Amino acid sequence: MPGFEIFGDEERKEVSEVLETGVLFRYGFDQARNNHWKAGTFEKELAEKIGAGYCHLCSSGTAALSIALAACGVGVGDEVIVPPFTFVATIEGVLMAGAVPVFADIDETLCLDPKRLEKVLTPRTKAVLVVHMCGAMAEIDRIRTFCEEKGLILMEDACQAFGGTFHGKSLGTFGKVGCFSFDPVKTVTCGEGGCIVTDDPKIYEIADAYADHGHDHVGSDRGAEGHAIMGANFRISELNAAVGLAQLRKLDRILETQRAHKKELKTALGRITNLEFRKVPDEEGDSATFLSFLLPDATIAPKVSGELAAAGVDGCFYWYHNNWHYMRRWDHIRSLKSAAPLPLTLFETRPDYENLNLVQSDGVMSRTISMLIKLSWNSKEIARRIDRMTAVLQPYL
Ligand SMILES: Cc1ncc(COP(=O)(O)O)c(C=O)c1O
Repeated sequence: MPGFEIFGDEERKEVSEVLETGVLFRYGFDQARNNHWKAGTFEKELAEKIGAGYCHLCSSGTAALSIALAACGVGVGDEVIVPPFTFVATIEGVLMAGAVPVFADIDETLCLDPKRLEKVLTPRTKAVLVVHMCGAMAEIDRIRTFCEEKGLILMEDACQAFGGTFHGKSLGTFGKVGCFSFDPVKTVTCGEGGCIVTDDPKIYEIADAYADHGHDHVGSDRGAEGHAIMGANFRISELNAAVGLAQLRKLDRILETQRAHKKELKTALGRITNLEFRKVPDEEGDSATFLSFLLPDATIAPKVSGELAAAGVDGCFYWYHNNWHYMRRWDHIRSLKSAAPLPLTLFETRPDYENLNLVQSDGVMSRTISMLIKLSWNSKEIARRIDRMTAVLQPYL
């Protein structure tokens, strides 16, 4: 994802301002910091940009997930419905909270299938953690309706979909809390960073405290601050926030370019008879970081993946064989290999992760290839890709 492709004077200026003050901590040092509050400014600008009530910037998307789960009161024994196609961080977050990830199938949106949620619902289900994968959205309206009907907390892992919208409303703002990642390969990057967004002042207050050892951030004497709850250190440094701030201000430009590149490719490849694309519930709102397409069967897809690489079409991911993004290859999670005993091992009711029955997800993922869209492409590069991809794909369809 593209943020790193356009570092420039803007990022250098923001970072220099921090270095000149010598204050790398996001809180306090009011005199020395010369009025530079990079993390605070980022939070304000991001919330305004995506129409969220509150934003709390933290050290990573993984940290954001832990903060979000804690702020929503998800803990020991609670079941959280998750998709099997995501980055392992989503699942780790649930496990570290002491909660129980319960996998439900995805569909051709590459995200949770709203029709498959009921099947995994139990009296212990507390939340649905929907993941907007590869830049575009789940059927978030239908999933939200399901959560409302069943009294479940809706949480969004929008780490891969910053800037995306569904019918004009930003992804990450549909549920109780949304999470974003600003790691080195995201649409906007802080180097490392992440954030939670919410409209609920109580959730924000807990998140803000939990991410900093429970500090209530009242007043400017850190040693005198109160602690309503325990927390951890998920703070971001001002240096990382400074990079992110410059990047955030480039979001519109990033999205515009990515969308134009994707549209050109998709229109051209759409002329290939029978090529099926990922279902995107609202094309207009796609943040356009990937172009995903589905091949007719599970034997053709890996062949095509190899041939695309051999033809010089780089950045094509066949997730079914990927160790980090699809449940099938997460042997460590399937067998619950952890550094120390996990709370969920105390519960007899946990799912049998070794023998999950996710036939529908396998059917989708074994046929799917996602191609990264890059900001730096020019029209010659896009034309080259179209030619080579057409030559590889056409004979199989
Ligand atoms: C869907 C998803 N969730 C969570 C994360 C974790 O974000 P981070 O790398 O900032 O910890 C990622 C990162 O790739 C992700 O793709």
